[in-house]
Amino acid sequence: MTGGTPRIAVVGTGWWSANHHVPSLAQYDGAELVALCDPQRDRARSLADQHDVPQVVTDLDALLALGPDGVVIATPHVTHHELASRALDAGVHVLLEKPMTTSAATAADLVLRAERAGVHLAIGYTDQYSPTAALVRRAVREDIGDLVQVMAEFSSATEPLFARAEAGEHGDSAADQHPDTYAADAGGGQAHTQLTHLMGMVLWVTDREVAEVAAFTDHRGLDVDVDDVAALRFAGGGTGVVTSTGMAGDANGVRHSVRFLGTRGTVDLDMVTGIARVRRGDGTVATITPPPHEPDDRTWAPARRFADLIAGRADNPAPARPAAAAAACIESLLESARTRAFVRVPPLPPAPATTGAPAHPTRGDL
Ligand SMILES: NC(=O)c1ccc[n+]([C@@H]2O[C@H](COP(=O)([O-])OP(=O)(O)OC[C@H]3O[C@@H](n4cnc5c(N)ncnc54)[C@H](O)[C@@H]3O)[C@@H](O)[C@H]2O)c1
Repeated sequence: MTGGTPRIAVVGTGWWSANHHVPSLAQYDGAELVALCDPQRDRARSLADQHDVPQVVTDLDALLALGPDGVVIATPHVTHHELASRALDAGVHVLLEKPMTTSAATAADLVLRAERAGVHLAIGYTDQYSPTAALVRRAVREDIGDLVQVMAEFSSATEPLFARAEAGEHGDSAADQHPDTYAADAGGGQAHTQLTHLMGMVLWVTDREVAEVAAFTDHRGLDVDVDDVAALRFAGGGTGVVTSTGMAGDANGVRHSVRFLGTRGTVDLDMVTGIARVRRGDGTVATITPPPHEPDDRTWAPARRFADLIAGRADNPAPARPAAAAAACIESLLESARTRAFVRVPPLPPAPATTGAPAHPTRGDL
């Protein structure tokens, strides 16, 4: 559709949807929030009542039968592939929460399904919706020469959440955290839950895929990884090191930062504040600062941007291909940590010829 007001539904009415996607859409003139879907009907019903959403259903088929233009999927990680496949195959645009999926094969499958169906597939990498991110992407591509190295950290306070998952805590109301979504059998762990944000940003900004990875993880006695560190070799040139820990509570401080170092300059991005610094070879230094309500508004941006994307009013700041490359990297990273070996990351498949979509550069030989 071009123009008009897209009819959007939200699948999964837990913590993230209740606090971000649902209120964001309900208070946005550019979208009509038509339905909520969750097998936990009471949870979806009370959220719908709170935001005047007309329909509540408990399964995706019933939701798709209502004919939405787009669906926002915010469910446990291991459900993403199945739910998104069904929506894409029905010709419905999808905003899918991160991580897109938990394997290279399933992520590539979603990319191809979206391209074949000719519908938008956007990923909920919140930081990519910041105006700073688009400027950083341009600076990395245009101002710093060839990419040499990426140094990046995504530290957060997730360890207590993972520990509560293993203790069997579930959370009460929709707006509470539900630790079981982050348990080992639901695709939890620091890499799929947090490092994915960092890899998504790095691969979208650089338009690179990771060719090879060597990693260590520490589970700190839990079933899921809590600390991750990896050395990367990018296809097309450049190396990188990424770290992520769930131990950045009050005492240690959260940090989400990336340094992109090129042959002719450097870009430093602070993903928390949305401030970035661009140093060019000619000695100039430019600072990118976020608009006044950033980063508080950022978590509400993906759902609204998704409506604008469907209506043809905006572009997609978190497209599926770099997100699928991030999923592939993370699967290989976890394999490397498990096997103590360098692991080659499977390349993304080329776009299907029949879509008429612009050809995406393939990675070629390592
Ligand atoms: N972008 C971000 O910064 C960010 C932050 C937090 C969470 N998330 C992502 O949002 C997603 C949801 O996380 P959450 O913390 O809200 O989890 P949650 O457990 O609070 O909510 C998930 C909901 O999905 C529902 N659900 C499960 N299977 C379903 C199905 N087949 N169909 C419909 N609904 C189903 C559950 O009943 C639950 O209500 C995850 O992918 C998570 O990584 C993103």
